[in-house]
Order: sequence, then C-alpha cells, then structure tokens
Amino acid sequence: MTQRERVLIAPSILSADFSRLAEEVRAVEEGGADILHIDVMDGHFVPNLTVGPLVVRALRPVTALPIHVHLMIEKPERYIDVFAEAGADLITVHVETCPHLHRTLEQIREAGARPAVVLNPATPLITLQEVLDQVDLVLVMTVDPGFGGQTLIPGMLGKVRRLREMLPDDVAAPRIEVDGGVNKETLADVVRAGADVLVMGSAIFEEAGGPAEAVRDYRRRIEALLTSPAPCDPTQKRRWSRRD
Ligand code: DX5
Ligand code: ZN
Repeated sequence: MTQRERVLIAPSILSADFSRLAEEVRAVEEGGADILHIDVMDGHFVPNLTVGPLVVRALRPVTALPIHVHLMIEKPERYIDVFAEAGADLITVHVETCPHLHRTLEQIREAGARPAVVLNPATPLITLQEVLDQVDLVLVMTVDPGFGGQTLIPGMLGKVRRLREMLPDDVAAPRIEVDGGVNKETLADVVRAGADVLVMGSAIFEEAGGPAEAVRDYRRRIEALLTSPAPCDPTQKRRWSRRD
C-alpha cells in the first residue's frame, strides 16, 4: 500500500502540436517530465485514429525519456514486437482487448519492453488479480479512452484507492498510473487516491505558458501535496464513492 515518494509526470503527446512534435517532446523533457506517453488508437477499439510505430521510431532519438506506448487497439499482440523494436520501453495493453492476457504480457517482456495493463472505467479490478505479478504498472483509465480533454470520472478515484489496497506494501509492486482528465482541479484527488504516475495531455500541452513550464508547475504542485497532510474531510469518502 506504499505510494512512491515521487509521483511521476507522463505528458501525453495526443494534445501536442504535431507539426512541431520533436520540439514539444524536448520541451517536456526540459521541464522535467519522467515518461513520454504515446496513445495508439485504431478506430476500432476506440473511435479515433492516431499514430503507429513510425512515430515511436522517429521520437526515439529525440528524447532520453522512457517511451510508454498505450495501445488502444484490437489484437495488440500483432504489434507488440514492432513497437518494442521501434523503441517503446513500456507497453500497455487493455484487458478488454486480450483474451490471452497472460500470454500477451509475456510477449511484451520477451520483446524487451516492460509490460503494463490498463482498465477501462467500466472494467473491474478483479480482472487484474491473476496477472499482478507480471506487470510493472497498472493504468487506471479515469475517462473512457479515445480523446484528450475529457472530464475525469469521479468514481474512478475510489477505484484507484481500492487498487492501492490490493497491491502489496512493497516498492517492487506495480506502479499505479492514471490517465484522463488530470489537471489542476483534479490533481490533489488523484495524488491522494494513491496514483504514482500521472498521464497529462491537455493540461501540459494546452497551457498558455508552454509545456516546459506546465511540467514545472505540476511538479511544484505535486511536491506541495506530498509534503502537506491531506485535509481532514469526513465527507470525502461518501462524496467520491457515489456513482454520478
Ligand atoms: C485518452 C488517452 C489519454 C489522453 C489524456 O484516451 O489515453 O492519454 O491523452 O488526455 P487528457 O490529459 O487531456 O485528459
Ligand atoms: Zn493514454
């Protein structure tokens, strides 16, 4: 149940300016980001199309940041090897797309990347139980996947807290990552719920001061949260456990 002392920032390039992609990636690295998050969508599993391994390969020499590929595609096993070969350090597959999840996670490790698993908002945590020892990270979608700039589903904070309780009290336990709707308004809630890694797209790339300054600002905010005690709010549990 240990939340890491450092909460990592993972900018999602989905909200970046694609005409200046390398520049945008260098900016988040300069701002102190920890992981680069690349959203891969196939127009089938999710109603949107984005990028493939060519973009991972193009960005690999641009940054020293670990590249995390979030596969929102049907039959992800067809593309794991090519993404690993293109330079992905961490590959995440959706539970909903993997009937042979154990095999798929093994395939990711054998391809030389770190395996991770992701759950849609409606998918229960119990679906992870048999694979927790295979993954380096569990991603909890806090929006329905497919688009940037959506609003965090409040009920997902309870899911993050329950996942934190499910995991062993051990630094070797998978990290908990959240993706979708993380911004200044929701930051305190996701950090206090127990997230170790925060994916942020629009909050980083659509910030007026630019992405480097946005990363620095979120770093300061996270450090302030981790060093200050959570406010005593007896209504919080009830408020966030309600489905609305
Ligand atoms: C959505 C993607 C996210 C997206 C998050 O399906 O998985 O990574 O970029 O965007 P924001 O942070 O704007 O909600
Ligand atoms: Zn994502």
